[in-house]
Amino acid sequence: MTINYAHRGASGYCPENTMAAFRYAIELGATGIETDVQMTADGELVLIHDENLKRTTGIDKLVKDVTLAELKALDAGSWYSTDFAGEQVPTLDELMELVKAHHIMLNIEIKSGIVLYPNIERSVVDKIKAYGLEKQCIISNFNHYSLAGCHAIDPQIRTGILYMEGLYRPWDYAQTLGATALHAAKYAVTPEWVKEAESKGVIYNVWTVNETHEMKALIQAGVAGIITDYPDRLHQLLTGKG
Ligand code: G3P
Ligand code: MG
Repeated sequence: MTINYAHRGASGYCPENTMAAFRYAIELGATGIETDVQMTADGELVLIHDENLKRTTGIDKLVKDVTLAELKALDAGSWYSTDFAGEQVPTLDELMELVKAHHIMLNIEIKSGIVLYPNIERSVVDKIKAYGLEKQCIISNFNHYSLAGCHAIDPQIRTGILYMEGLYRPWDYAQTLGATALHAAKYAVTPEWVKEAESKGVIYNVWTVNETHEMKALIQAGVAGIITDYPDRLHQLLTGKG
């Protein structure tokens, strides 16, 4: 069945990339979580989309310049709603505990395009192995050098090529990088391409898909995963209630 990846958790209903968003996604039927990983000044892997803390915590500093202790003192929920006041920026460890307990999939998007975090690839790969989550995790990244780096560290760790548009025969490119998946924007996929990729052993996980009619078309096309802010909508379709 199509994997139902909650984009930054159930970000249609909760502040993105918080434990509240991840827990609620599971309640709504998500069978996977997509999250964004950055690194603190003291080398901790933390879950936040932006390099700068301003949008989701109000503090105008870069993640790379604060320690985990400083980050943990910030409120990552109030920007969204006072109902979520006190939500913290989670660590990758916290999410991995949840993923392990619920036997769901985890798409770890490493953010290393704007800030180049030292050895973030090895830190993430080591963390996946420490939790024994090799079969449940896939690393994605818009920075394909970083993806190739993950593959070089351990070819057993699965990687997905993030892109928006215009990659020619992306399944061939995936094979060049040793990647198992194409993480394509929803407008960069056709049913024919899904089939051609499949014949080469390469799967599609498509983002960010929030409309039911788009979800239906992608399920029909045979994509492996859909990344959505509304995992409840996809759950309803996949369980025949949509
Ligand atoms: O991984 C899919 C999607 O999350 C990529 O874009 O900006 O939401 O991280 P962004
Ligand atoms: Mg992302």
